[in-house]
Formats: sequence, structure tokens, C-alpha cells
Amino acid sequence: MLSASTEKIEVWDVVIIGGGVAGLYTALLAAESGKNILLLAKTELDESNTQEAQGGIAASVSEQDTPRLHLLDTFSAGAGLCDYEAVRTLVEEGPAGINDLIQMGVNFDQNEYGLALTKEGAHSLRRILHARGDATGKVIREALTARLRFHANITVRTHTFALDLIMTESGCAGLYCLDPTGQLVTIYAANTVIASGGACNLFAITTNPPVATGDGIAMAWRAGVPVGDMEFVQFHPTALMLEGAPHFLISEAVRGEGALLLNDNGERFMPRYHAQGELAPRDAVCRAMLAEMEKTGARNLWLDVSPLKGEDFPNRFPTIYRKCTEYGLDLPGDLIPVAPAAHYFIGGIITDINGWTGVPALFACGEASCTGVHGANRLASNSLLEALVFGRRIAQAIIKSDNKPLHADCPLPELLPANTDAPAIIDELGKTMWQYVGLRRDETGLKKAQEILDTLTDKAGMGTYGDRSSMELVNMLTLAKLVTEGALLRKESRGGHYRLDYPRSQRNQLGRWVFQRGQQTKFKAIQEGRL
Ligand code: SIN
Repeated sequence: MLSASTEKIEVWDVVIIGGGVAGLYTALLAAESGKNILLLAKTELDESNTQEAQGGIAASVSEQDTPRLHLLDTFSAGAGLCDYEAVRTLVEEGPAGINDLIQMGVNFDQNEYGLALTKEGAHSLRRILHARGDATGKVIREALTARLRFHANITVRTHTFALDLIMTESGCAGLYCLDPTGQLVTIYAANTVIASGGACNLFAITTNPPVATGDGIAMAWRAGVPVGDMEFVQFHPTALMLEGAPHFLISEAVRGEGALLLNDNGERFMPRYHAQGELAPRDAVCRAMLAEMEKTGARNLWLDVSPLKGEDFPNRFPTIYRKCTEYGLDLPGDLIPVAPAAHYFIGGIITDINGWTGVPALFACGEASCTGVHGANRLASNSLLEALVFGRRIAQAIIKSDNKPLHADCPLPELLPANTDAPAIIDELGKTMWQYVGLRRDETGLKKAQEILDTLTDKAGMGTYGDRSSMELVNMLTLAKLVTEGALLRKESRGGHYRLDYPRSQRNQLGRWVFQRGQQTKFKAIQEGRL
């Protein structure tokens, strides 16, 4: 065991785990109260799913649009599992969040009519704002971090890895983390916010940056906080599929502006599968793509961007253009090789519409949370908006809170030495999840995945490790098992969860599987008939 020789203790009003939009925005708003805020990021602030967000941020800001239309599209994509109050909150408070970003210095792209809006899958009209073409997340992150620097009461610590929550009988008292030198630090805080992002690195093929390993969700689960919707993982239809290149996202907005999907014979196939063609919900596009790839044994399909009428491709999609050029593609003339990849983790820490987890002093926000807005399949570009709307509500709750930091007398965790096999085990975990718990699932495959995950758990050991990669492995194994269990329990197909052995949706499964450590897994039916 490694011992924490001298205990390092800090006391803060608020500790926020995560440096994506959810963490940054919550920190900025909560700081208005004058409370002292500590924001932790496990690497740098420019490494997050926020930074990679291209298409944009959805909100009903045009004259043709209303929150109600946005609500209906969100519900329709969510395939019966959206939480009405959460979605209503999202769509009604969304435009104010956009205004806030504009006030904070985010320059969304404009055209001659005002804000330039694009379209993505399953949206009934153009409602997606974007910035610097396809660099929306980056522009938002830059604006928020620029403001953060002016706040004397926000402290940012990068390369600081949150290990575990400190739980007491009165609620969450803060967390343990590893500082950049690997030393254990105890942070006591009056309020703790988990905004540490999603977990799509559970899958071998993903659009996510390597930091997305679900640490906050796993940490909450270990602390006995309920998590849910774990079986719902959203796969994005168009990740770059070139030998030696990362599975870089080719935004749905490219299809929104007119790009077409072609098979190996150069034929457009989506209209044969879905009335909305290339802009069908993501799960439908991904499954159609798999079917087409299987017909010819192809590893990928093709995205033809030449139909983008009146668009100057390098100007409208500069990030995608640059990346494709780097890998030898000449756009818009060349076809882009694409295939589905794990993209968004719908499940997470269950919260109410104020981002509260039900544990005193503990909140969750962004992709780490499960607010119920996404249901079984997230409507494209709703996630940055979710972070803003619920981040604001968390900040308001924190501002009002008169919680005091508890100096709890908790035993320090014993830190295990690094597990040198972690990278190899993570690699096997990713392949297993991709093969058996990916786009198409069935009982035999899911049970096989469970067996392999058990073996990997035996190899890994499951203590608290004194280094990041071993602890990420523990977190990923924890979540991989919950995703697999959720997928086995959901004996139907719905949204992003497709079971070959149960290809239809079932009315008796309109609800959420809730996992809580030490408790029996519960099925919580959703309220119906509210639309
Ligand atoms: C995209 O630009 O296609 C991604 C948008 C999203 O996942 O919301």
C-alpha cells in the first residue's frame, strides 16, 4: 500500500469536478455569490467533449420555432422515455442560456437574417446555433475560460484526478483527489458538483477524447448514489474511418446542410430505410449503415459532401476540412470514409430538475448526469444546452444554500500501487463492449460480455489506486458492468438500445432501470400522457 504520509486538507465552499461547459458555466454563475469555488480538471481545460462539440447547440431562437416544437422533437427522439418536466425546463430555459453565452462573449455565427441556424437529425426545423463553423464547443470553452480568469474566487486545478466522494450521514462532504504529483488531497466542501462528463471510452470505437472514462458516474455509484439509463449509449453515424486516423467526428450538421451517405456501390441508401433519410434519428441511421456494410463486407460507408449547395465547405466546416486534409482527403471532391462510433453516454447520475442527486450537498450536471431529458436517444445538440440549463439551476441552489463545509472525520483511503496491466485491460474492455454491447445486442452476447468483464475485474483488482490510469480502469469496469446489466434487463428495443432478440418496443418497459450500490436494481415507470 502507498501511504498518504502527510494528509493534505483543503476546505472550500464549492468543489466542481470537470472542466467542460457544465463545470465552467456552473462555476461562473455560482461564483457570483462570492463563495470560494474550486474547479478540478483531470487534464487541461481544452480536453473534453465540450471542446470537441461541432454541430452546435440547439435552442428555439428563431421566429418559426417555439419551445413546444423543440419539446416535441426531443420527445420524439427520446422514444417514450423522456422526463416531461426535465424537457420542459430544458426547452423553456434554453433560449435564456443562449443569451447568457452571448453576454459572456460567445460569438455565434450569423447570416443576413441574424443567427445562422443549421439542422441535424430528428429536428423538424433549423434550430442549431454554431460558432466558427464547426468549432462551437471550442468557442464556448474559450469564452467561459476567459471569464473564469477574472474571478478571484474561482480556483482551477488541472491534472488533478478526483478519486472518491466523502460521504457522511449528513450528505456529501467533498472528495479525495490526487494532485498533479500523485499526492492524496482531502477536499472538504459545503457543496460538491460532479460535471466530469461521459464514458464513451468504454467502447473501442468512439468520437470522445481519452478523458471520457466516466469517473464521476462511477464515483457516485461507489458512494451509493442512484444511477440510471445506463443501457442507453448514443452512437454517432459519421466518425472518420481511415487507417491510422482517430475516429474524428464528422458533424451531423454536414448532413444537415445536404451531404449524402453512399454505400460501396456509390448508391444513396438512407431513403430505403427511413422517411427522414440522412437526417433520421441517429440510432436509425447507424443501424441502416450496419445493414449496408454487412451486404458488401465493407468496413465503412461514404459521406459525399459535394451536394452542399452554396456552401463554401472549408469555410462552413473548417475543423472537419482541416482534419480531413491532414489525412490526405481533398474536400469537397473526395468522399469521406465514415462509420458509426460511440458518441454520447445518456445514462448517469440521476438528478431532479435542479441538478440535485437526492444526497444533501451533492449535484450532478452535463453528461455525467441523468436528468431525463434525453430519454432513450438524445436529440442532436441538446447536450450543451442541458449543461447550461441545469448548470444554472445548480448554481442558483448553491447560491441559496447555507451549507457549511463539514470537516468529517473519515479514514483516508489506502492507495494501491499502479496496475501496470491497466492499458491492456482497458483495450480488451473496449473491444468487448464494442462487440457485444454495441449497436446491436442480444442475450447471448451480453452474457458473454459479463463473463469477460468478470475475468477482467479479477485481473484488474478493484481497490483505490494511487494513479490515474489504474483508477480509470476501475471506473470503466464498474460502468461497463452496469451498461451490460441494463442492456440485459431491457428486454426490448428502444432508441439507442437495440436487441436482436427483442426487436420491438414494449409498453411495459416505459421506465428507467435504477442502479444503487447495495440495493436491489429497481424499475421506475415514467409518467405518461403529459404531452
Ligand atoms: C454533431 O455535430 O454531429 C454532434 C452534435 C451532437 O452530438 O449533439
